[in-house]
Amino acid sequence: MTRPPVLAATREELEAYLAPRRRQREDVVLVPTMGALHAGHAALLRAARRHAAAGVVAASIFVNPLQFARGEDLDRYPRTMEADLELCAAEGVDVVFAPAVEEMYPGGEPQVTVEPGPLAEILEGASRPGHFRGVLTVVATLFGVARPTVAVFGEKDYQQLVLVRRMNQDLCLGVEVAGVATVREEDGLALSSRNRYLVADQRGAAVALWRALRAAQGQAPYGVEAARTAALSVLAEEPRVDLDYLALLANDLTELEPEAADGRVLVAARIGSTRLIDNLPLALGPR
Ligand code: PAJ
Repeated sequence: MTRPPVLAATREELEAYLAPRRRQREDVVLVPTMGALHAGHAALLRAARRHAAAGVVAASIFVNPLQFARGEDLDRYPRTMEADLELCAAEGVDVVFAPAVEEMYPGGEPQVTVEPGPLAEILEGASRPGHFRGVLTVVATLFGVARPTVAVFGEKDYQQLVLVRRMNQDLCLGVEVAGVATVREEDGLALSSRNRYLVADQRGAAVALWRALRAAQGQAPYGVEAARTAALSVLAEEPRVDLDYLALLANDLTELEPEAADGRVLVAARIGSTRLIDNLPLALGPR
């Protein structure tokens, strides 16, 4: 039998749970989420358990209004708390922090926020202004509230992972930031809370993102342009995919150097009204 996690709805309740563990010098491993948990989140929780060894695994469930622009899907973002708690129990999570908005931001919308800098202007940031300011502000707040030794993030949101690492380094927050590879459906589609918005026909089209990334990976040894062309030709064959960007960049999301041995291919597209993102590593090989 799995033991249900302790549910902390307030900062105080979370601290009451964590303080004695911290005094015992136990690790606190945090997995920030917005809920609607799926097998991708489960992989993060499992990685957290490995990092925590005898320590504490804390998951947060909070749909952060700061990272949604007006007109985005904040109101219709799926909320499945009961199932989420079951998944957390099955993965051995010790404590779930699930605050109301007023508890996370007791003074109303925070006046001081994290300015994410130029890396937040490209890719996701270009079509979602303010998104990464909201993400980094809530992640910094969670780091302050839970004071984790380790925090676990998915490569699925690669730009987010890079920016969290950068914030952690630039602001000297002292957290070990761990990344976990993307969990996929059998046909390659990256698991996402937003996949549930896809109707059958759109679900079929969505796999083109994965195929395009794989094509880029396959052609990468022949150079960046070969990889780009291969991916774009896959995407061009699927008319239901409305491409936002396809980018081939260095692992830190700066421009690829001509001699770079590896990098990342990232894609974003709309299928109907659902926006999907995905990415894969690229081995560019000797050139
Ligand atoms: P959310 O979309 O719920 O994702 C929580 C974490 O799960 C993120 O680190 C994300 O990269 C990871 N994740 C999502 N799908 C995954 C998959 N298929 N495989 C592996 N990991 C996956 O990302 C957020 O929430 C928010 O921006 C948050 C960081 C919680 C701040 O509000």
